[in-house]
Amino acid sequence: MNYLGIQSKNLKPVVDGLNLLLSNYQVYYQNLRAFHWNVEGQNFFELHRVFEELYNDAKIRIDDIAERILTLRHRPLSSMSAYLEKSKIDEAKSQMEDDQMVKTILENHRELILIMRGVLHEAGGVNDEGTIDLIAGFLGEIEKKSWMLDAWKSKVLSPQH
Ligand SMILES: [Fe+2]
Repeated sequence: MNYLGIQSKNLKPVVDGLNLLLSNYQVYYQNLRAFHWNVEGQNFFELHRVFEELYNDAKIRIDDIAERILTLRHRPLSSMSAYLEKSKIDEAKSQMEDDQMVKTILENHRELILIMRGVLHEAGGVNDEGTIDLIAGFLGEIEKKSWMLDAWKSKVLSPQH
């Protein structure tokens, strides 16, 4: 039963975009876990907690993206090898300075944001409002989180004293 009212083949560009987003989110998620475990220094308690909040949020969004693809009657990518092959986000080194970790996460966010805009563009082309609703919500949230991380980083890079 085609409950969507959109032809399956017309959804292919949307699904490709969602699978690209899913792949990038999986690598981003693992980067956050690596930073949560390996962060050191005077900002340990703050960043250890922030990275955990971010990966818990990413975990929920990963599930939402995969289940959106299934709702569109397609298959989500589901192997680490497929994610790594597709992802534009690279696996991060786990050991780096804390401000470099935040910079890396901000760069990962920029990549996710660009992919989300691409998905919104494709979804708009086929009137896939369900995908637009889901991803537009993600977009505003990750932009806000990026502002907060950027504000934190400014403090580190230009100390008051
Ligand atoms: Fe933990």
